[in-house]
Amino acid sequence: MKNDNVSIGGISLAGLGAAALLWPAAPAWLVPVSVGGGIGLCALGWWLNHYTDLERLFLNCGLFIHTISDTILVPKKIKTIKKNNGRDYILSLPKGLSLQQFKDKEAHISQALDKHVRFDFNNGILIMSIKDTKLQKTYPFTAIHTEGALELVLGYGYDGLIKLDLAAAPSPHILIAGETNSGKSVVLRDIITQLILDKNPEELELYLIDPKRVEFSIFKKCAMVKAFVREDDEITDLLILIKCETDRRYELLERAGYTNIRAFNKKAKQKLKYMLVIVDEFADLAENRDIIDLVNYVARKARAVGVNLILSTQRPDKDVLTGKIRSNIGNVLGLKTSTRVNSEVVIGQSGLENLRGFGHSLLKCGSDLTELQSMLLSEEAAKKLIKHTFVEKSVRQGKARGYIDGYQK
Ligand SMILES: Nc1ncnc2c1ncn2[C@@H]1O[C@H](COP(=O)(O)OP(=O)(O)OP(=O)(O)O)[C@@H](O)[C@H]1O
Ligand SMILES: [Mg+2]
Repeated sequence: MKNDNVSIGGISLAGLGAAALLWPAAPAWLVPVSVGGGIGLCALGWWLNHYTDLERLFLNCGLFIHTISDTILVPKKIKTIKKNNGRDYILSLPKGLSLQQFKDKEAHISQALDKHVRFDFNNGILIMSIKDTKLQKTYPFTAIHTEGALELVLGYGYDGLIKLDLAAAPSPHILIAGETNSGKSVVLRDIITQLILDKNPEELELYLIDPKRVEFSIFKKCAMVKAFVREDDEITDLLILIKCETDRRYELLERAGYTNIRAFNKKAKQKLKYMLVIVDEFADLAENRDIIDLVNYVARKARAVGVNLILSTQRPDKDVLTGKIRSNIGNVLGLKTSTRVNSEVVIGQSGLENLRGFGHSLLKCGSDLTELQSMLLSEEAAKKLIKHTFVEKSVRQGKARGYIDGYQK
């Protein structure tokens, strides 16, 4: 930004300088042109100069108001607050500009400043937070203890670990979407390994759906994994059981006079376990109408009864992520997409197309957008970490006979 100014100032001075030098020798017409050009450029330089760097950045991004009386209004800095890891600019917000307009330009401004920038709004003032540090390209996997029943550790953001508790979040499900090599399987591996190491199989069960047949097999022997399915008919059977269990739980809660699993578990002697259904490649199932209807049913109904979904997809386009699915899943971890259009399908705005790939992502919960980098965990390393939770074959065959407690007898 400074450079623009210097160059405009430089050109204007050069214009006047040229006029002065040419004065004795120049043809008559050249002198007024040089003087005029110099003065014009000086005026332009002055006009831009009378804005601060920050205000010019807003002007460049279209974040200003042009009033009827021909005045340009830009956000004005009221004060700067130094933070550990950067600074907050407290700005006045001209009438007619909304926080959303600033949010829409976050990626653009971050890119221009080569720093992470985030806008918030509080009591009539606009807060622009700028972080001085950058996210690392790689964070090694670390097992972390979390308090929430279904608290997922998704990676590192600018303020440390980014976690999301599906049992407490406004939306109980999460979509993980990004093109090939964007890091979906790695982040799923992080999440599953973390849950297996940190949570109690008496309180949480995992149902793994792996149409690609490769990603989840390392987890199939773990005590917490209640089902591991790959074929379409097995997947349909499992989803039917989960649908029935959802309905059974609704009746149970209704009879007992509770509206959600948390209230029920606080009082009930026999507590309900949380059930987390994880699908590695949802696009592979998108052609199967029965499966999609079942997933939609569970996504819509399961909120209160402790049945939660993680869906991942490599094809973040409108054919796979239909309006129905998107409206039932309020949390999205968006990894790199190849186009802006796909970014809009996934998170409702642009930004994913500018990510690095390899676990670099944007988490969208409601209207909140958080940039993060997931932890790198290889299959071999995950296997070593979870090996002690493997159970005997006989126990696993028992599990396979009936997936869900209510239907095992
Ligand atoms: N968090 C991460 N940190 C560093 N590198 C990563 C991370 N996540 C993924 N990668 C790199 O990207 C490669 C691809 O990751 P991954 O297999 O998870 O992609 P994917 O989105 O599942 O791809 P596909 O759609 O083809 O299944 C990994 O082998 C690894 O080298
Ligand atoms: Mg994958």
